[in-house]
Amino acid sequence: MSQERSDTLVLFGATGDLAHKKIFPALYAMVAKGTLNEPVIGVAFDPWDIAKLQARARDGIVNAIGSIDEKIFARLASLLRYVSGDYRAPATFDKLKTALGSAQRPLHYLAVPPAMFEVVVQGLEQSGAAQGARLMVEKPFGHDLQSARWLNRVLHLVFDEKSIFRIDHYLGKEAIQNLLYFRFANSFLEPIWNRNFVESVQITMAEDFGVEGRGRFYDEVGCIRDVIENHLLNILLLLAMEPPVGRSADDLIDEKVQVLRAIRTLTRDDVVRGQFDGYLNEPGVAPNSPVETFAAVRFFVDTWRWQDVPFFIRAGKSLPVHATEVIVRLKRPPLDVFDPIKPGDCNHVRFRIDPQVAISIGARRKAPGDDMVGEQVELTALDDSKGDMPPYERLIGDAMNGNGQLFTRQDASELAWRIVGLVLGDTTPPAIYAPKTWGPTEAMTGFGPPNGWINPSK
Ligand code: BG6
Repeated sequence: MSQERSDTLVLFGATGDLAHKKIFPALYAMVAKGTLNEPVIGVAFDPWDIAKLQARARDGIVNAIGSIDEKIFARLASLLRYVSGDYRAPATFDKLKTALGSAQRPLHYLAVPPAMFEVVVQGLEQSGAAQGARLMVEKPFGHDLQSARWLNRVLHLVFDEKSIFRIDHYLGKEAIQNLLYFRFANSFLEPIWNRNFVESVQITMAEDFGVEGRGRFYDEVGCIRDVIENHLLNILLLLAMEPPVGRSADDLIDEKVQVLRAIRTLTRDDVVRGQFDGYLNEPGVAPNSPVETFAAVRFFVDTWRWQDVPFFIRAGKSLPVHATEVIVRLKRPPLDVFDPIKPGDCNHVRFRIDPQVAISIGARRKAPGDDMVGEQVELTALDDSKGDMPPYERLIGDAMNGNGQLFTRQDASELAWRIVGLVLGDTTPPAIYAPKTWGPTEAMTGFGPPNGWINPSK
């Protein structure tokens, strides 16, 4: 497949939640910037007409942005088409083929549950709509190694790997791109970015809300599958990878895959699971569900650079704040020349991913006064995030341009499941924690980076 731009976007699941909340606002932003001028064909089961789809798109945009520019929306509305039908019926794909007209390189975006991937991909092939096309698929990409392998086989029957774009929307975030840029566009980090200087790495993704009406989905997934196996592991890869040898998508992904290969397979001793009190009352959640809404996980990367450095990831629903943050904690100086430094104080690099984007260096300085006594400070570069490109806008644009850099390659999609495989589906009841606390206190005792966790502030 050449790098030629896709000439039509086909959106499966056009009447769904993701399209409403994220995809239509992204398309609107692209139209506003002049980066989307191609037809957008929505496909879904609902027997809607184009006016209803346009109204739904408008509603999603207003909800996301707070206002709408009628001229821009009119341009987006004029690009929209709608094909309704059952994904199992060949007639649906015949209608789609007709709607595609003379399009040569459509991008088919599967914003539908993975259980539908096979039937849609086969429908695309049988109707001829897969010819010359690209395919973008939403997460979750399977629920374990076996299902991910099976999905990959299903997709590869029709599309080659270069034409497949597996989404992890975290990779489209400005802050994540910044992390990668900051690591490899500066030289001062490299000498210390290894086991000789780094004591530990901790990544926290805290959400101060519960499952928000997604109980049925969440109860089949749990925290490890929902955000750790994908979003947060991807952050770990960017922190741990070697510099890529070039700028191509494969150059970057090859380095991430090397880290994935070096990460030890988790055992149950590497995990603490929790469930917030009240989860069992959420609609769609099974009685006595053992699914975790909180998990803290310890990883080791068996390479020269990272041997014995613990990487901790902690994520949960109903925690005290909504924030995602990385702390790379450096070892203490070998000797306290002045005042005694508290364990855990001293030097770190903090990457704030959400809600603000910031990079801070933690350091000691002398506190004003007579004595040589220090205090802990942070030097912070803060970005107010205004003007950031939302992930879906970036990722849809990249997939249309055939740029796979921010997507998950087949080998990576399978390796990630290998790492978490043995700790999935644990049916032992997780430790209960009170909503708005930092997880199950007792179960977490003694589990974490040396010198403790740093809780992100609001
Ligand atoms: C999704 C998960 O992939 O990511 C959700 O399914 C989670 O449970 C969400 O809330 C977090 O994404 P963001 O971009 O809001 O941090």
